[in-house]
Amino acid sequence: MTLYRLAYVSRPAASVTADDVKAIAASAARRNPTISVTGLLIHEFNRFIQLLEGPLDAIETLMTAIIADPRHSGIQIFLQQSAEERSLSRWIMWSDFERMTLSEGELEVREEIVRAALKSLAELDAERRSALP
Ligand SMILES: Cc1cc2nc3c(=O)[nH]c(=O)nc-3n(C[C@H](O)[C@H](O)[C@H](O)COP(=O)(O)O)c2cc1C
Repeated sequence: MTLYRLAYVSRPAASVTADDVKAIAASAARRNPTISVTGLLIHEFNRFIQLLEGPLDAIETLMTAIIADPRHSGIQIFLQQSAEERSLSRWIMWSDFERMTLSEGELEVREEIVRAALKSLAELDAERRSALP
């Protein structure tokens, strides 16, 4: 199986509540294991940061649904690559509203993804500023 890895950052809609985040987590927990998708959804800094890993067609189908979801906007994909192996063995939700315990290895992946997301946002911000008249 060719494994694919994708990560993005987006902005939650202003109306998003703790219940919405729980509903998103429930959808992901229900569906992702059935399509062999693992990864991480982080809700912090008024951002969603998500890492998805799995078969390419599963990632494509999932991203089509996720991009169309009105509960967030401004999706910026900052990582897109084929992968030798999964960074995480399970599906994990980490939220402002509902914190959970992660193993050392999982915590490392989480930090890496957050760092990459923040770096890509900073780069985008710099690009926007330099494009200003
Ligand atoms: C930030 C964000 C991340 C999401 N991540 C997933 C996901 O990993 N898996 C998933 O099935 N749905 C995810 N969703 C929800 C989908 O957009 C869609 O609502 C859902 O797949 C519909 O499935 P359901 O009818 O089973 O709830 C996410 C939505 C948002 C806003």
